[in-house]
Amino acid sequence: MEGVNKVIDEAAQGSLTIIESKNKDGRKVYIESYGCQMNFSDSEIVASILTDKGFTTTRNLEEADVVFVNTCSIREKAETTVRNRLKSFNKAKKQKPEMIIGVLGCMAERLKSKLLEEEKLVDIVVGPDAYRDLPNLVNQVDDGKKAVNVILSKEETYADINPVRLLSNGVTAFISITRGCDNMCTFCVVPFTRGRERSRNPESIINEAKSLFNEGYKEVTLLGQNVDSYLWYGEEGLKKNYENLSEEEKSKSTTFAQLMEKVALISPKLRVRFSTSHPKDISDEFLHIMAKYENICNYIHLPVQSGSSRVLDIMNRGYTREWYLSRIDTIKKIIPDTSISSDIIAGFCSETEDEHEETLSMMEYVKYDFAYMFSYSERPNTLAQRKFEDDVDEQIKKRRLSEIIELQNQHSLYRNQQHVGKTYEVLIESYSKKSKEDLYGRTPQNSGVVFPKGNHKIGDYINVHIDSCTGGTLIGTVV
Ligand code: 5AD
Ligand code: SF4
Repeated sequence: MEGVNKVIDEAAQGSLTIIESKNKDGRKVYIESYGCQMNFSDSEIVASILTDKGFTTTRNLEEADVVFVNTCSIREKAETTVRNRLKSFNKAKKQKPEMIIGVLGCMAERLKSKLLEEEKLVDIVVGPDAYRDLPNLVNQVDDGKKAVNVILSKEETYADINPVRLLSNGVTAFISITRGCDNMCTFCVVPFTRGRERSRNPESIINEAKSLFNEGYKEVTLLGQNVDSYLWYGEEGLKKNYENLSEEEKSKSTTFAQLMEKVALISPKLRVRFSTSHPKDISDEFLHIMAKYENICNYIHLPVQSGSSRVLDIMNRGYTREWYLSRIDTIKKIIPDTSISSDIIAGFCSETEDEHEETLSMMEYVKYDFAYMFSYSERPNTLAQRKFEDDVDEQIKKRRLSEIIELQNQHSLYRNQQHVGKTYEVLIESYSKKSKEDLYGRTPQNSGVVFPKGNHKIGDYINVHIDSCTGGTLIGTVV
């Protein structure tokens, strides 16, 4: 999936959460999550489904009876990391043969029973739309069978499931609003692993946000592969375009802009974020809603992928360089102080040196606050794998990527420097990683700020004057 925000895509780079859960007979579940924030959010749904059936959780692998790995297939490296992890779980299983090992998420969906048959690494394989079947699948393994459910659904949104926020800071939470993706970017495996796009009932989204706020949460991030194409028209079902709705469906429908407004109206003290936006779908109506509500944070993750119209075309992104640039201009006009981040791929099939230069000049124009940057990794069965040759030499990909990273580092520093001397409202999320004397929070624009703790505590909103910065962090004092 597209990168979601800073927190999310740090996850995509390989950090992990461990969610804990034991059932009636004392069974304990250990879950590790890799990949995008949608996976982390899904693991909370899995924990909820299992705890409902009497399982409990553990952070300690040694005492786990059931081990689940929620996996990512977006790049080859992500899958290699998971395979190595599964091998180490299998070593642990030698000492404890009754331990059950399961694979969840995108790798489960992509490889299906291969993981059971050829690689013999696991007992259970469950795709992203089949988590309700998990308790049943564990029972099958108890009966001496291997268990697989990789059926993709056109309706499942887990709307009625109240996620177990086990590793939360009690301040920020994620809410899934859509599942799947219909965009078919040619490089991307997500439409195959997460299935067709569907939108979740807005009432269930608003109720989840309200109950989080009532529990003391101060920020929600609405998640989807392409939040802008969110559209509810009265019943669970596949995505339709607004133009194709009947008059009756239109009258009952909720667009992403309308959903955001409803969530923003819950309370001015509840910050609202969203990810990921798609350049072809982000609407002016939505930008005006963003501008209207102070508590909708001024930060947009708007992945460009490439600065060349020809490459964008063969990526099937649905926009040109000029279209993307005009969306940037419109965003800056409607919400001047918005931060913008991106995802960029270096060395996609047939990319020339000139086209790579176009990506650099695009970056120069936008000066992203932040970017997730990758070299192209061919994924089996994607449209690109079937239609194009992965013909950019690895060394060239590497060099282009390092040029992109080098330029982005300059821009991140430049953008952070623009904040120095100004004061921002910061929501405190945690202690600083380096010192218990300092706290960490984010500005609405999603910049991380570190400042001396004073009498402040996690969950407070405070105004912080920015005194200095690095490329990654703002350093300030509370005013
Ligand atoms: N190779 C490299 N990067 C990819 N992404 C998706 N698929 C691939 C791939 N095959 C990147 C895109 C996307 C982000 C989440 O991962 O930039 O926005
Ligand atoms: Fe994002 Fe495109 Fe992949 Fe959909 S197909 S998840 S829009 S990169």
